[in-house]
Amino acid sequence: MIAATDITAGYGNGADILHGISIEAHARELVTILGPNGCGKSTLLKTVAGFVKPRRGRIEFGGDDVGKVPIHEKVRSHAVGYVPQSDNVFGTLTVAENILMGARGLERETRERRFTRLMERYPALSSKLRRKASALSGGERQILSLARALMAGPRILLLDEPSAGLSPSMMHDVFDEIAQIRDEQDMCILMVEQNAYEALTVADRAYVLTVGKVAMSAKAVDLLNDPAMEKLYLGGDPDE
Ligand SMILES: Nc1ncnc2c1ncn2[C@@H]1O[C@H](COP(=O)(O)OP(=O)(O)O)[C@@H](O)[C@H]1O
Ligand SMILES: [Mg+2]
Repeated sequence: MIAATDITAGYGNGADILHGISIEAHARELVTILGPNGCGKSTLLKTVAGFVKPRRGRIEFGGDDVGKVPIHEKVRSHAVGYVPQSDNVFGTLTVAENILMGARGLERETRERRFTRLMERYPALSSKLRRKASALSGGERQILSLARALMAGPRILLLDEPSAGLSPSMMHDVFDEIAQIRDEQDMCILMVEQNAYEALTVADRAYVLTVGKVAMSAKAVDLLNDPAMEKLYLGGDPDE
């Protein structure tokens, strides 16, 4: 379970980007974070992951205060997987090498079991294990970065725009995959998204940010049916 409470954060000596944000996500829950470009979604995810240090507030994983635990330690101690918004695969490495990067420190038996399972799950990757990741399509690269994160066996998964640059059909595949992972592996997933409608159709709950604040927090299904939400955030025409 993730609980971020009253988080204020920014970069270097710069102004605050997040102004007192509180969010929660529980096991077996897919929570999406929506909002316009530049409102702080990635910053929030980086702060939860530990790449950005909060200036104020508290971050807990499973009830433990992890605000000051460095990311590499958190990966081990709290089984956190983080998939950044871009540059999330190593183009010069093969598909297999990329996946195995998620297996660092694992015992051989665990590594082999997970690798076999991932290969069954993603035939598109298993048929291209020796190809360079740079030769994959955008959708395949997204699945590859997800597979690498899953290789580490996370209990908490942080995804920054997993549908970025995908065709509508690939986007649905990736979202279906994320929803399946939540259901099968009891995972706690925080997913930042630009494609609000589609994200809400697979998510359980959502937070909508505006300039570093939570503007709205609701069940995904309620947001999908909320006309105000449509006008404000989902690209509906306000004059209609
Ligand atoms: N590494 C960084 N250094 C300084 N400012 C940054 C950095 N990354 C993002 N920002 C700024 O933080 C604000 C929020 O950015 P970001 O969290 O990436 O928004 P979003 O993901 O919602 O598009 C923007 O004004 C952006 O310019
Ligand atoms: Mg972003």
